[in-house]
Amino acid sequence: MYLDTGSDRVDFTWMIKNAVVPRPIAWIGSLSSTGGYNLAPYSYFQLVTMDPPMLMVSFTGRKDSLDNIRHTGDFVVNLVTDGLEAEQTDTAALFDADVDEAALLGLATLPSTVVGPPRLARAKVALECRATEEKAMPGATLVFAEVVGVHADDAVLDESGRIDIERYRPVGRLGGSLYTTITSAYRIPVPRAAEVLAGHRSGVLAGTVADRTTGTPAVSANSAEGRQKA
Ligand SMILES: Cc1cc2nc3c(=O)[nH]c(=O)nc-3n(C[C@H](O)[C@H](O)[C@H](O)COP(=O)(O)O)c2cc1C
Repeated sequence: MYLDTGSDRVDFTWMIKNAVVPRPIAWIGSLSSTGGYNLAPYSYFQLVTMDPPMLMVSFTGRKDSLDNIRHTGDFVVNLVTDGLEAEQTDTAALFDADVDEAALLGLATLPSTVVGPPRLARAKVALECRATEEKAMPGATLVFAEVVGVHADDAVLDESGRIDIERYRPVGRLGGSLYTTITSAYRIPVPRAAEVLAGHRSGVLAGTVADRTTGTPAVSANSAEGRQKA
């Protein structure tokens, strides 16, 4: 099948939404100009640079979250993880601007360190963000923001203080009301060019060399393959 801009618009966009997956979900906490808290999920969201760490969120149409970010300049991205997907979805319902979705759903918050909006107590990871730039697109508004602080629950960290994906269990959106939870992970280190030229491809190296970015073995000791090799 081949679809393009001349195809049925709905088929074309659904094909893309279901293909570019999984998308992480930014559960955005923000404050209105009068101090009211707002919480809503956004999956047209991604990390875009690391030095400094910047992320992007895309707002379609008028959104309370966007209004608040424009007023105050900051927000918190609570990352959605296993066990929070139902509450996350409830906060996407169309509430009046003055409704505090967290209070409505009994979601406790904790103060942030440098930005105004609080973070969700149940969020395994929360990013404190300061908006730096807005870009108008034909059908949306993109907001770029710098991540100025990260809160991570110690329970999702490994011995070296890095996030252990199997403990973290992030939820991804697969298009529409379809979601997935990442429950296992594996490493495939990028080989040196000389190793590839000598025939030592990633598959051959898996489990034998350390990932150069983290220093950890190529195959997680927790994975089925890792357990077999151990
Ligand atoms: C998982 C999920 C992801 C969503 N992602 C986006 C998005 O990236 N951009 C957007 O404009 N709306 C998105 N929505 C819809 C908003 O969450 C919804 O319009 C919400 O009511 C906005 O709340 P607010 O006006 O309080 O910000 C998403 C909804 C869900 C359930």
